[in-house]
Amino acid sequence: MKGILLAGGHGTRLHPITLAVSKQLLPVNDKPLIYYPLSVLMLAGIREIQVICTPVDVPQLRRLLGDGSQLGIRLDYVEQPEPRGIAEAFILGADRIGSDPVALVLGDNIFHGHNFYDILQRHARDIDGCVLFGFPVEDPSRYGVGRTDAEGKLVSIEEKPSNPRSNRAIVGLYFYDNDVIDIAKNLRPSARGELEITDVNRVYLERGKARLYDLGRGFAWLDAGTPESLLQAAQYVQVLEQRQGVRIACLEEVALRMGYIDAEACHRLGTRLPSSDYGAYVRSIAKELA
Ligand code: DAU
Repeated sequence: MKGILLAGGHGTRLHPITLAVSKQLLPVNDKPLIYYPLSVLMLAGIREIQVICTPVDVPQLRRLLGDGSQLGIRLDYVEQPEPRGIAEAFILGADRIGSDPVALVLGDNIFHGHNFYDILQRHARDIDGCVLFGFPVEDPSRYGVGRTDAEGKLVSIEEKPSNPRSNRAIVGLYFYDNDVIDIAKNLRPSARGELEITDVNRVYLERGKARLYDLGRGFAWLDAGTPESLLQAAQYVQVLEQRQGVRIACLEEVALRMGYIDAEACHRLGTRLPSSDYGAYVRSIAKELA
């Protein structure tokens, strides 16, 4: 399976913060926002990942993450000149996806919860159609919203409905079979001029090929697209990391635990960050798992 991390857009809801810097590079407590969605793809076992971003952000993202080889993965940077919609990712990424299934994660989505590794591994396997993830929220009209029947089967999906028919947001993590490329290529822009991911999902739903997995209570899904949600995400991560002494979305740790790099390589990465607590954590994990 290939991965796409969508890290473009102008981050207008965060202006002026994002006038000169990509949203995905903003800090969420101790690390840049992009670490969180990237760790999700890595945990799903995906090692070939396209990072889609605006042309101006490529040099900085590359400076941060390089070609991924230090983490035992491969990162390619693909330019999206204008934010023409989330579903454009599959058109821009088509060549590198080839005939494989693909996972898409949005660059401002943060996930944290018990057994997430198992959930990802289970759903990333043998994809026939698409797998969507639902999460209950207070304000569903900000998101894609899914409704299920009495048996829990998905029956409708709407993008940012003004009168949501359920409180279940469809989160920014999607697994697709290879049909997604053709589906995206045949989409028409919505009223707001974007190729909508919800329209892709609706095609799968109409074909009877959309599966929904609910990330229930005890799971955290946060998006960091506004000043308020960015701060809340940082507070959530800070409290958990300090209380538990573990780090969420530490890429070096994920790479080591997934077997993408060995303990020695992990320790080396930690020594490149000699003065930060994050670096000390990477070194300690490398020693612990050596
Ligand atoms: O966060 C989950 C929600 O994400 C879903 O529930 C919605 O169905 C989905 O449409 C999306 O809604 P948003 O309004 O939050 O999407 P936004 O425009 O903020 O884009 C999400 C991320 O994708 C953001 O990091 C910027 C990036 N992006 C977006 C577009 C439209 C791109 O890189 N290129 C784009 O063309």
